[in-house]
Amino acid sequence: MDVVLVGLPGSGKSAVGRRLASTHKAEFVDLDEVIEQRAGAAIPEIFDVEGEAGFRTREREAVAGLGPADRSAAVVRVVATGGGAVLDPRNRWLLYRRRLPLWLDARPEVLAQRLRRSPTVRPLVAGRDPIGAMRKLAAQREPFYAAAEQVNSVAQLPSVLDEVDRLIEEAPRREGTPLLRSESRLGRLSLGESIAVPALADELERLETRRAIVVTEPGAWSAVGADLAQGLAARGFGLEIVELPQGEAAKRMAVIEKAASKLAALRVTREEPLVAVGGGALGDAAGFLAAVWLRGVPIVHVPTSLVAQIDSSIGGKTAIDLPEGKNLVGAFHQPTAVITDVALLRSLPPRDLRAALGEAVKMAALGDERLMELLETDGEAIASGDSMAFESGAIAELVERCAWSKVQVVLADEREKASAGDGRIRLNLGHTVGHGLEAALGYAGILHGEAVAYGLRAASRIGAAVSVTPPEHAARIEGLLSKLDLGSVPTRASLEAVLEAMEADKKHGAAGLRWVLPKAAGVEVRADVSEALVREVVGGVLAGTAAGATVG
Ligand SMILES: NC(=O)c1ccc[n+]([C@@H]2O[C@H](COP(=O)([O-])OP(=O)(O)OC[C@H]3O[C@@H](n4cnc5c(N)ncnc54)[C@H](O)[C@@H]3O)[C@@H](O)[C@H]2O)c1
Repeated sequence: MDVVLVGLPGSGKSAVGRRLASTHKAEFVDLDEVIEQRAGAAIPEIFDVEGEAGFRTREREAVAGLGPADRSAAVVRVVATGGGAVLDPRNRWLLYRRRLPLWLDARPEVLAQRLRRSPTVRPLVAGRDPIGAMRKLAAQREPFYAAAEQVNSVAQLPSVLDEVDRLIEEAPRREGTPLLRSESRLGRLSLGESIAVPALADELERLETRRAIVVTEPGAWSAVGADLAQGLAARGFGLEIVELPQGEAAKRMAVIEKAASKLAALRVTREEPLVAVGGGALGDAAGFLAAVWLRGVPIVHVPTSLVAQIDSSIGGKTAIDLPEGKNLVGAFHQPTAVITDVALLRSLPPRDLRAALGEAVKMAALGDERLMELLETDGEAIASGDSMAFESGAIAELVERCAWSKVQVVLADEREKASAGDGRIRLNLGHTVGHGLEAALGYAGILHGEAVAYGLRAASRIGAAVSVTPPEHAARIEGLLSKLDLGSVPTRASLEAVLEAMEADKKHGAAGLRWVLPKAAGVEVRADVSEALVREVVGGVLAGTAAGATVG
């Protein structure tokens, strides 16, 4: 087994690592030294010449160079990582999965003091305000360190080593691979592989409840329910199931009323959380139920579809549909916790995986270059549910990049108050036409992400026509959508029906439709797009016409 030490600069990874390796007669690998040897240069020089990006590329190569994880009980290798290695989701996948990651934790102030006395120059904290710089690093990196086992590194070396040895002994009993843990106004987010049962049990303990009131639907529950039920029962939790219909049919007022009656029959109290197990439709309905039951009870989301993991479980928007339109009734109700287990996606039908990539392309188009590259290289494997996409960490990286970006966007503008392109409104990229198309088709025969893909094409073409979207960016977005087979074929919807539905959409502001258009990075919101241009572009997109072709 490899023990992997992570933590801020100065937390003692090298010192603890060397001692640990020598007591266990294991190999010691200092990843920073590996990088320096391969580059033939010291780290500050690499930063000077190649910038942080160049250093991170070298770091990724060094992590991948560790090879497959050794799962024996004995410590074979101790790996000390550079403080920032774990920022990269794929590095974390390789370092945390089937290895024992340990977070040597200490307050930033203590570490800044330590570094002041150290002869080693650390580029990221070498400036005038090392404490401020260290606090910033700590805030940025804590969610990634916190997925490892925590060790207090301020203690004397012998007691740090004792604590580490205890964790090594417990390692074979560790369940799943936590990859990220964060706490914010949007709830506690735990993301990882095969973590659903232990993370949910922890959450229920924390909320001091011994029974799980699970709100779910037959599709998701038949796929993932047995393991959850067994895991919770083994830990002594009671289980009550409140079953809603599968798919969009869950998002109806009559369903909420019936579910609330079931909660009344179960005598669910104000302190008891609801646990939503399912995709986006189930989560929206369960979230709304939690918002209104007893005027609001805690909810824990366990998202089981890709849409739910990358998007709908985050941000606190809950909703049900009316015959007059989708999501017309709802509430903001932030979850207490979101438990995102990428292993739950293994049973998701390929069409749902592919459709969700419509939303992922949107997140990439907002300016995440690495996500764009990931979708270009691994998108097809992810869309078809290829087991290599799970094993390689591609799916975990995709889920994290999208989910984590959404967390940042929503934290900055929770209630979508900012009207400019730097607010939550940017997440609506591709949704003007997307929602119009879903409505025009009566929410049947097309999945949400599939509709968003048409919308993204329309936004890119309109953006290019009004000189907001650089033509090469528009071409890249459309090229990626085509590669993923999204938004390419003619739809059954008529242009008039889509335009009418767009008019009725709630995003219709007093000044007319507000178009969210992609820029090279980020978006620009425009209310002055001419009707003629909209007709031409949307008509072309619905007809499956390639960009640049004239509509006949
Ligand atoms: N609240 C938000 O911020 C937000 C954001 C985006 C989308 N949404 C909403 O999300 C909904 C679409 O999400 P969705 O596509 O996840 O819908 P969904 O809940 O209908 O799930 C899609 C299908 O996958 C099945 N399924 C779910 N998990 C499974 C699993 N692990 N294995 C096998 N099958 C599984 C479901 O039974 C269903 O048939 C829409 O209603 C949309 O409005 C909400």
